[in-house]
Amino acid sequence: MIYFDNAATTYPKPMGVSAAVVNTLITPFGNAGRGAHAAALQAADAVFEARKALSDLFGLSDERRVVFAKNATEALNLAILGVLGNRRGKARVVTSVLEHNSVLRPLYHLERCGKIKLSFFVPSEEPEVCEKNFRACVSSGVDFVVLTACANTTGLSLPLGILSDIAHAAGALVLVDAAQAAGHQKLTFSSCRADYVCVPAHKGLYGITGLGALLVGKRSPVPSPLLFGGAGFDSQSREMPNELPERLEAGTVPIHASSALCAGIGFVESRGVEQIGERVAALSDAFRAGLLDMGFSVYSPRGAVMTLFNVDDLQSADVAERLDEKGICVRAGYHCAPLAHAFLGTHKRGALRASFGAFNTFEEVESALSALHHLYRT
Ligand code: ALA
Repeated sequence: MIYFDNAATTYPKPMGVSAAVVNTLITPFGNAGRGAHAAALQAADAVFEARKALSDLFGLSDERRVVFAKNATEALNLAILGVLGNRRGKARVVTSVLEHNSVLRPLYHLERCGKIKLSFFVPSEEPEVCEKNFRACVSSGVDFVVLTACANTTGLSLPLGILSDIAHAAGALVLVDAAQAAGHQKLTFSSCRADYVCVPAHKGLYGITGLGALLVGKRSPVPSPLLFGGAGFDSQSREMPNELPERLEAGTVPIHASSALCAGIGFVESRGVEQIGERVAALSDAFRAGLLDMGFSVYSPRGAVMTLFNVDDLQSADVAERLDEKGICVRAGYHCAPLAHAFLGTHKRGALRASFGAFNTFEEVESALSALHHLYRT
């Protein structure tokens, strides 16, 4: 099998990740933060190590501000609804047309409830144009900005630092969706100047599904809880505790997925985030060049970690099915990013996305290009 759907979830996982999961299953792990016996403490240590690894990776240097959720979508909902949901007055929110439904749908929900006024800007491959479009969109005032670090369709990366500075100068808080960037781009709180960053564990950080995180910047307001329940202490209070991360983590945290994340971050750091990003982009560029040679439509810029494309005037799902028959896994359709397709002009048939990971090879790229040539150009 040739697996080119790493933007959905990375496969395979590093050996150390599998070993970490097995280890948490065969050693006595209790429930993290629930009880003070040896097994509970062992689990708590594993969860702490994962928070610390994530905090260090993003230069947050405060593992208590790493809030675990079940995935990046839940983390984004927590940031958006938890900051804007109880705010007085109507907040002015700006986001891009490249966002995923995990950003768009909570924003549309708040818009329907009359809580926000929502505006969109159109990013560009040219940082100056991107900046100009963003400035124009926030010129009448803005309270909250949501930016993807890397679009899950085209792989376009936004100039986060510049856009965040503009947003902050206008008095806004900035939330960065790093779902596709984490593990591929060297992204820290000081480089992206965000107030909040959301990540999944199972994509470029090579952990497993069931875990995502909201990283709350050191001076950023703490979102209101969306879920209520046990936190392991303050049990007689009717309220969630004030302390982070427990204030925003009702119920048991995913201990096995935390161990996997810690091992995944270890793998990423051992190879180097920038080195992985460069290699993945080189694979994508080679694939992109081959597609252009065959005269297919390509929507991704050079240097992206994924390639969005279409074959002639065919439906993307039909092409993906033909590739699947040849053992090549790519995602087709709309990728949960409807506005991106409206903007790209692919709203009628979607597009194919080949997304690459640390274990893909240039030979696989050649094989996939040969398969496409055989199917559509001979
Ligand atoms: N959000 C993931 C993707 O882009 C699942 O495929």
